[in-house]
Amino acid sequence: MSSKDIREKYIKFFVSRGHKQIPAAKLVPENDPTTLFTSSGMQPLVPYLLGQKHPEGKRLVDCQPSFRAEDIEEVGDNRHTTFFEMLGNWSLGDYFKVEQLPWIWEFFTKELSLDKDKLYVSVFEGNNEVPKDEESLEIWRSLGVDDDHIFFYGVDKNWWSCSGSPNNMPAGEIGGPDSEVFYEFTQIEHDKIYGDKCHPNCECGRFLEIGNSVFIEYQKQQDGSLKELPQKNVDFGGGLERLTAAVSNTHDIFQTVLYKPITDAIAQAIGLKYEGDNTSSMRIIADHLKAATFLILDGVPPSNKLQGYVLRRLIRRSTIKMRQLSGKLIRRKALLISDEFTPIIQAILTIYGKQTNIVEKVIGEEIGRFAKTLDHGLKEIEKIENIDGKKAFDLYQTFGFPYEITEELFRQKGQKVNKEQFKAEFEKHKTLSRTASAGMFKGGLADHGEIVTKFHTATHLLHQALRDVLGPQVFQKGSNITSERLRFDFSFERKITEEEIKQVEDIMNKRITEGLKVDHMTLDLQKAKEMNAIGLFHEKYASKVSIYGVGPNFQLDPQAKDKRERDGYYSLEFCGGPHVDNTSIIGKVKIIKEEAVSSGIRRIRVKRAS
Ligand code: SER
Repeated sequence: MSSKDIREKYIKFFVSRGHKQIPAAKLVPENDPTTLFTSSGMQPLVPYLLGQKHPEGKRLVDCQPSFRAEDIEEVGDNRHTTFFEMLGNWSLGDYFKVEQLPWIWEFFTKELSLDKDKLYVSVFEGNNEVPKDEESLEIWRSLGVDDDHIFFYGVDKNWWSCSGSPNNMPAGEIGGPDSEVFYEFTQIEHDKIYGDKCHPNCECGRFLEIGNSVFIEYQKQQDGSLKELPQKNVDFGGGLERLTAAVSNTHDIFQTVLYKPITDAIAQAIGLKYEGDNTSSMRIIADHLKAATFLILDGVPPSNKLQGYVLRRLIRRSTIKMRQLSGKLIRRKALLISDEFTPIIQAILTIYGKQTNIVEKVIGEEIGRFAKTLDHGLKEIEKIENIDGKKAFDLYQTFGFPYEITEELFRQKGQKVNKEQFKAEFEKHKTLSRTASAGMFKGGLADHGEIVTKFHTATHLLHQALRDVLGPQVFQKGSNITSERLRFDFSFERKITEEEIKQVEDIMNKRITEGLKVDHMTLDLQKAKEMNAIGLFHEKYASKVSIYGVGPNFQLDPQAKDKRERDGYYSLEFCGGPHVDNTSIIGKVKIIKEEAVSSGIRRIRVKRAS
């Protein structure tokens, strides 16, 4: 069974049980300043898990490409990846445990024909706030799962929220206890290094988690307690890569059809086999280049900021690993050989049936830039008299030199690096970046700040005002909002004159002072198109869409050329929200900058007028 078959079977299974298939969200979420990447299928659905009505109803299913930057350091074993496709089904206050667990069991054992004896499940053991999940336990038993295949764990393993266990959840975030299913690779011997006894959550590699049913029924409160949500939700997520491994009984996901062509291409490029000590580095290269490919395809360029920085690290880390494996790292100028990457990237694109040379181009250019940095780093190393752990960490941070490389270079120079000190610096940094990324998630979609919401509505006014002034060829190409400013990218061929900027700003402020009402509608896709709502029509939309209209009965003009105006809306856009109810809430705004981003794309920044 191919991974395509698994994907299709899953969608079909849940569609036939009343679910609507929804399109995947982009890897880089739009209009959500709280997070860098879409890291799970539930993330774009938070407003609906909180009670907002979803245009497609209460039962949804999808396949969501996801990226988890925080897992970068975990990659290298048989199962961790930063990029994966997540199969997901949701109940938005509809069915619950009694339906979900038997369905997922049926899907695994009947549709995928997984051997029941190799499946294990875990259940939440309870804590002082949330009771033990006796209901799931009884359901698993009724499905014929033996007690010795059912394990109990606490909040560290059987609780899911975007921020992890309840203690880490910021106020406003939602989550709940979960019940996971694991596949046992009986061909793998337990390694006692990981503990005396093996169990589903053991790290030895004998068990692989293949599905997680989260019962999202709690929200964290300001006072730190958990409150039950008005609706009980199901959020199931199963990694396609892991399911593919289980179905083919291949304990190493990097040897499944979704990765083997990539590791083969890496082995070929370097002239080494995928075995022994090489496997970990080859897995890192395969994972990072696949993730980089999908980020590039989603429009992320390598840079020193945010998503671009993560992409840069992925490419640089794979470059270092490639060089390290082929023994060419410490040879100056040896890094310029970006051609080696071409067959690897081709292998990735072929797996997903994509044809483009953009990925090769972006990665090739980044490797070229990195070669210069690396040469510089090597010169720095030569100058250093005494290296301590902190300096080794600086080299790691600045030039991407893995510790082992620095150590090796100094061994050659007769110096010894203090590994403990390096590790201490590394841990300090990891804690800092974890705090930073938790900060990125603070509030999540569950808690859009007031100013961000105002800017979001201002974005719709800006979009329409630009079209009024510059013409209908203007289309949104991206947007990013923080509590300081809104940034808006759009298609337009030339620089915007000062006069045009003034006109756009004036229109926006006029619409704001007019106090136009903001309407939310759920419409059939066809109807939304007929109304001339602005949407990105190269994207896949579900059959029902969410539309925001600014200013119903704005200037009802039956003669207007544009259907939108005839319907009496100033602005009409495909959007998931949230928005203010009335434009007067936004307060006056000011355009502070207009610039080019790339050929044919301009960028405007807007602040609140103080
Ligand atoms: N939200 C859960 C996860 O990401 C299940 O979809 O694992």
